Amino acid sequence: MNPRFPEFQNRNYLLTGGSNGIGFATVESLIRQGASVFVADKDPAGAQKLAEHLKSLDLPAPHFTELDLANVEKAQDWVNEVGKQVGCIDGIVNNAAVDPRISLENLKVEDWDLLFQINVRSYNFIIKSALPFFAEKGASVVNFASITFHTAPQLLTTYVSTKGAVLALTRALARELGSRKIRVNTLSPGWIMTERQLKDYVNEEVKDLIYRSQCVPELIQPEEIARVVLFLLSDLSAAITGQEILADRGWAHS
Ligand SMILES: NC(=O)c1ccc[n+]([C@@H]2O[C@H](COP(=O)([O-])OP(=O)(O)OC[C@H]3O[C@@H](n4cnc5c(N)ncnc54)[C@H](O)[C@@H]3O)[C@@H](O)[C@H]2O)c1
Repeated sequence: MNPRFPEFQNRNYLLTGGSNGIGFATVESLIRQGASVFVADKDPAGAQKLAEHLKSLDLPAPHFTELDLANVEKAQDWVNEVGKQVGCIDGIVNNAAVDPRISLENLKVEDWDLLFQINVRSYNFIIKSALPFFAEKGASVVNFASITFHTAPQLLTTYVSTKGAVLALTRALARELGSRKIRVNTLSPGWIMTERQLKDYVNEEVKDLIYRSQCVPELIQPEEIARVVLFLLSDLSAAITGQEILADRGWAHS
């Protein structure tokens, strides 16, 4: 299923965490639409795989910058350089995040700070750095949170806290930037079958849990989340800002 959105032709998008998982699928979706995509990720090997995958489909690679988003100065420099190069930014996908399992007992101040630096601070300062470059006709920002904000699984307290902060950031920025026609929304995926999830967490027991918890008992693929990103970036969603969109096949919150 590859719906066409001609409006994406010649538009410029920034996306973090495009070397793997949902970001990888989202870059492919945007490139298929004819958009120019600027990716920042700390994993150059993953970016190389993405470029080879796109080449095999006869599609161009995104513009890749190796970057650790914990370094906020470097993240801002990246946006500034892209902005100066292209002149106009049509949207941002703040997708990269880390989700280490840590009990409160073992949590160090450095762990807490690092998660907030990557999962929230980078989102805010990437948006801030793009302010001089956002298109006059308006722009769309998608910030990634997670179903876990609602389900609060154990050992993910800091991660869940960062995702709560993303929801708050989205609501506040949607208000602050709305007069410039910049829309800001949160996308909260359910449990998505990325390479890493399949390798590290998704066994038969987890699949049973997913089938029992979702309204529709089918595993969700990264490409499905990429399609929701396309919708939120596109003019089809022009009336939506400041919202959290859950893409979880109806996970029953308990
Ligand atoms: N996969 C899921 O089930 C799921 C569920 C809910 C929410 N999410 C959210 O969706 C988003 C994407 O998740 P995913 O599952 O595709 O993750 P992933 O781990 O598969 O990919 C994350 C990407 O971000 C990059 N990244 C991580 N830390 C970075 C840093 N410091 N600097 C630069 N790049 C960095 C990684 O290199 C990787 O390419 C995240 O915000 C995540 O919290 C995912």
